[in-house]
Amino acid sequence: MTAPPGIERVLFTEEQVNQRIREVAAEISTKYQGRDLKLIAVLKGAVFFLTALARAIEIPLKVDFLAISSFGDQVHGNRQGGAPGMVRIAKDLDHPIQDEDILLVEDIVDTGFTTRYLLQTLAGREPRSLGICTLLDRTVRRIVQVPVDYRCFEIPDRFVVGCGLDFKQRYRNLGYIAVMDPEKS
Ligand code: IMP
Ligand code: MG
Repeated sequence: MTAPPGIERVLFTEEQVNQRIREVAAEISTKYQGRDLKLIAVLKGAVFFLTALARAIEIPLKVDFLAISSFGDQVHGNRQGGAPGMVRIAKDLDHPIQDEDILLVEDIVDTGFTTRYLLQTLAGREPRSLGICTLLDRTVRRIVQVPVDYRCFEIPDRFVVGCGLDFKQRYRNLGYIAVMDPEKS
């Protein structure tokens, strides 16, 4: 497929993404062996990563999903418009998580506001354990600290698309991670 307009450069190829997901999945398989693992992802961005990760994890697991609305659904650089940390649940999980080993699967941890909100919300439901696994980590933009247990890639301070990450709801289906220049799209 030819690169769509606005795609500046590929940061991680599909092969690199898949290889790294397999490595992280192997760590998770070892760590959660014999436990009651449930992967939880936020619609829609993290679903792509959750699916690939779950396929590569070699122990039994459950999945569940929630949806949130947040100021983060804007364009990078434009995102200071809303009050930081304004996040709410638009669709809740289907099932309780009490006494389960929960891994929150994220597409990207950026400022950390979304992840912190999710952690606080999930922690209140008394899971046995609560961890974070993210495809991308952009620590240079972190405002609130969150404990990331598993990360596939650290990325620079540029807007990226692919592997579930969107620009105006598009490009989630790219198999690679690319830097995007919204001006040129
Ligand atoms: P945080 O609350 O600042 O950590 O925002 C995280 C959310 O912002 C992610 O779940 C994405 O939906 C969105 N986001 C942040 N950076 C990017 C990016 O580079 N590309 C696409 N979406 C992004
Ligand atoms: Mg988004």
